Amino acid sequence: MAKIGIFYGSTSGVTQEIAEKIHDSIGEDIADIYNMEEDFDDYNDLLKYDYLLLGCSTWGAGEVQNYWREPLFDIDIEKPDFSGKTIAVFGSGDCTCHGKNFVSALGTLYDRFNSLGAKMVGAVSTEGYSFEKSNAVRDGKFVGLPLDEVNESDKTEERIADWLEMLKADFPLE
Ligand SMILES: Cc1cc2nc3c(=O)[nH]c(=O)nc-3n(C[C@H](O)[C@H](O)[C@H](O)COP(=O)(O)O)c2cc1C
Repeated sequence: MAKIGIFYGSTSGVTQEIAEKIHDSIGEDIADIYNMEEDFDDYNDLLKYDYLLLGCSTWGAGEVQNYWREPLFDIDIEKPDFSGKTIAVFGSGDCTCHGKNFVSALGTLYDRFNSLGAKMVGAVSTEGYSFEKSNAVRDGKFVGLPLDEVNESDKTEERIADWLEMLKADFPLE
């Protein structure tokens, strides 16, 4: 088993592609990857790892992607202990059509795992993003890495590279 677990939920494949890019960059000897739809049994899968990268797109009006709903519901009820875990979140959204809830699902994941004791890292400056409102912003920063393949796909590669560079401070990426 690798040291880092990447878990992603994706409806139309956008976050999946991003998660796979992140996995390729990190390397399969260092990170395992789970599609929440097909590979995920229950939250014990998450607890196997001390380091987690959690990917989720935003749907509805700021809701988490479908395949995260049940796991988060279970986690809410069972309240497993995530202390000692280091977690960073990433995901895709649309800052133009959904600029009032841009990548808000990241805020939901952040709150949930933060409240269960995880060390949450990987906050990203809002500079360079155009959006109206987002539940993923805390203290002036996004709680994780937002990507927008609809409007800003030209920035994705650099944003991922910069983020992974930053995560080296907290994740065993080398
Ligand atoms: C019905 C619908 C609702 C959406 N709601 C949001 C939203 O609230 N916030 C946001 O940032 N993006 C929203 N989006 C954009 C998706 O999150 C975006 O297309 C994303 O890349 C899809 O990723 P996935 O294929 O990994 O699920 C919405 C898209 C649709 C079609």
